[in-house]
Amino acid sequence: MLKANQAIGIFDSGVGGLTVASAVKNLLPQENMIYFGDTAHLPYGDKSTEAIRYYSEKIAAFLLEKNCKVILIACNTASAQAFEIVQQVAGDKVKVFNVIDPVVDFITASRKYHKIGVIGTKGTINSGTYARKILERKPEARVISLATPLLAPMIEEGFIYDDISNAIIRSYLSNEQLAGITSLILGCTHYPIIKNQIRKYYNFNVKVIDSGQIVANQIKQYLQANNLLNDIVDPHYQFYVSDYTDLFEKISEMFFEEEVHLEMVDLWK
Ligand code: DGL
Repeated sequence: MLKANQAIGIFDSGVGGLTVASAVKNLLPQENMIYFGDTAHLPYGDKSTEAIRYYSEKIAAFLLEKNCKVILIACNTASAQAFEIVQQVAGDKVKVFNVIDPVVDFITASRKYHKIGVIGTKGTINSGTYARKILERKPEARVISLATPLLAPMIEEGFIYDDISNAIIRSYLSNEQLAGITSLILGCTHYPIIKNQIRKYYNFNVKVIDSGQIVANQIKQYLQANNLLNDIVDPHYQFYVSDYTDLFEKISEMFFEEEVHLEMVDLWK
């Protein structure tokens, strides 16, 4: 039987999932968390579906071994391509969340959004997952999807809120297909790091939606409904990476506002 003091297990290819982890931390400050950043295989966005499934499957098994009570795939590419395989690994042991379905629930529940832009990695955009899931629920919507593959490596390399990143963002978002959108889904968990830069590009006239808070809310509801909300005062955060990078440590400390100790593990040897 699951216990409330077991950790929430979260994974991404790198730092992107920390945007979701920090939203979970803000909403559920008493929860223990285990985060895995697959920095050795980053970026996921241009890998084959087989590769993403292989990586995700091993990470899910690792999080289960670590006794997590929930698994959250904090990566859109893995959510689009490996959700089912992670569910298979988890079986009936723990519930698996992805970062796409909660956003689809949010956007289709509102009457406000009609012409919806989605940006993400090639893997996420080429899978067509957002467009398919939104249109299944809201056939009258228009969904314009655009792959923006440079953004995640740009962020991983620390090019944010500067001239280089402004030029790259402009070059992508000025694409004619996106003209007239009223909302833009950040379909990659790296992008919230540059959310305000993107909002500024649109002069704050386009609703820019990221998954962090929306996903955190769904997890809270689930934990509440299943009596799994933790009540300890001093939660424990563990960070694992498959390859050590300076930036990971820097960004995780920025999000978690405390010193972060990274442990390196090779799940594929
Ligand atoms: N953060 C990941 C996502 O949400 C992917 C970035 C990458 O590794 O390509 O898709």
